[in-house]
Amino acid sequence: MPNSSIKLPKLSLFAFLRKWPSMNRNLILFFKEILDQNDGIVQLPNKLVLTDDAELIQYFLQKNYKNYIKTALVRNFVKNQIGNGLFTSDGAYWLKQRRVIQAGFHKKKLTGIATIMLDEINHYMDHIMDAYAESNEEIDLEKEMTYLASKIVSKSLFGQEFDNDKIDIIDKSISNANKYIVAVSKQPFTKPWYHLNGDYKRIMQQKKIRDQFILDFIEERKQSGEKRDDLLGMLLETEYEDGSCMDKQQLLDESIILLVAGNKTSATTMAWLFYLLATHPEIEQKVLESVTDNLGNVEPSIDNLRSLTYPLQVLEETLRIYPVVWLIDREPVEDDEFAEIKIKKGQDIGAFIYGLHHNPKYWKDPEKFDPDRFTPENKKEQVPFSYLPFGGGPRICIGKNFAIMEMQFILAMLIRRYQFTLSPGQEIGFKPLLTLSPTNGIKVRVQKRTTL
Ligand code: HEM
Repeated sequence: MPNSSIKLPKLSLFAFLRKWPSMNRNLILFFKEILDQNDGIVQLPNKLVLTDDAELIQYFLQKNYKNYIKTALVRNFVKNQIGNGLFTSDGAYWLKQRRVIQAGFHKKKLTGIATIMLDEINHYMDHIMDAYAESNEEIDLEKEMTYLASKIVSKSLFGQEFDNDKIDIIDKSISNANKYIVAVSKQPFTKPWYHLNGDYKRIMQQKKIRDQFILDFIEERKQSGEKRDDLLGMLLETEYEDGSCMDKQQLLDESIILLVAGNKTSATTMAWLFYLLATHPEIEQKVLESVTDNLGNVEPSIDNLRSLTYPLQVLEETLRIYPVVWLIDREPVEDDEFAEIKIKKGQDIGAFIYGLHHNPKYWKDPEKFDPDRFTPENKKEQVPFSYLPFGGGPRICIGKNFAIMEMQFILAMLIRRYQFTLSPGQEIGFKPLLTLSPTNGIKVRVQKRTTL
């Protein structure tokens, strides 16, 4: 961090344009490079203040979080596509929603969800992954994990009876909305083109159909009066302080947010995790031994997951190396100051999570995949706010417990039955979409293990 006498370093438009080719090649590595050159904080020509400094990030995400709201992009644009739910709302409304929804994500409440997750994983292995192993065809791990995570989050939300065809239509609508958001946020000048070529109209039509499916389903559930152990059951039971419940629009908005936030994040993390295991056979072996020694052939459960300490370290280290949410940005509502750096009202500030997790100030040998960084003793040494895969402060990911349980289940169950071998000749890079994703997927072949 610059000391009080140094002004906020700025990247001039000229310097920015000169670096255009490297930015176009890989935005994330470009951000890392300019932050390394500017001691952890820099202002871009579009006025965004970018930082990978843990103290400053802690300041705006936690210590003075009330002064920071979601950016105009989220408020005006993302909201229009995915509604006014936890992720997109701010202020008093966000707090009211967060309080009632948070209770439903408590570990103890996730027992019913655990059963849904395990059923989905078993179904996927028996009907899909076994067939891939049999045919020895090449598959894309990212695609497969996205399919599995989508089924898990949809069924966890709406229950086992929710129609698979409807899940596919909802997924398509969300994925097209995501593509539109990424395209227009990266290149705002493409927006009129979406309107002219009819894509925007199609996206809005899909959104209408998607929302109607969900509204109808919510209505049916309400009419049936059934109490279910899924997330919708939890949302239907929430009560505000005055005794009222969420109305249909709120139930719809929060459902969509959970679907959006809970799919690609877990899916891409699992694709990266299996990739890292495939390229580090000694670590893969240790994970396998931990699972077989502790669980044998027994199905994982909320209780026995606690014994899988090494697989959890591997998951944590995967999220360090590949933090799927690689940037968390905010807009200050009033002028602010941190260590004499002035942050102006309306000027976006971004916590560059990828840079934070690869910063030698906080991590020794940051490019090395080393799950031992996350042993209980080593965790105690970590600098506060230097590890933020789930964000930090009051807006920390509400689905963190859900996601960790889901990913541990997937890891434990898949590694016992399968080994993934990377197809040769691939160059595995990453690209910044809404999540940090592999550039061209991760191609593997699947073999069934014979040891169990
Ligand atoms: C690997 C998995 C996941 C990762 C890395 C992740 C990461 C994050 C991060 C970094 C944030 C904070 C964003 C910000 O401060 O602007 C966040 C927020 C959120 N996440 Fe997750 N997430 C994951 C899975 C999930 C799942 C499974 C769900 C739901 C089922 C979920 C629901 C949410 C919601 C609703 C928010 C908004 C919370 C709020 O603003 O109060 N996430 N997530």
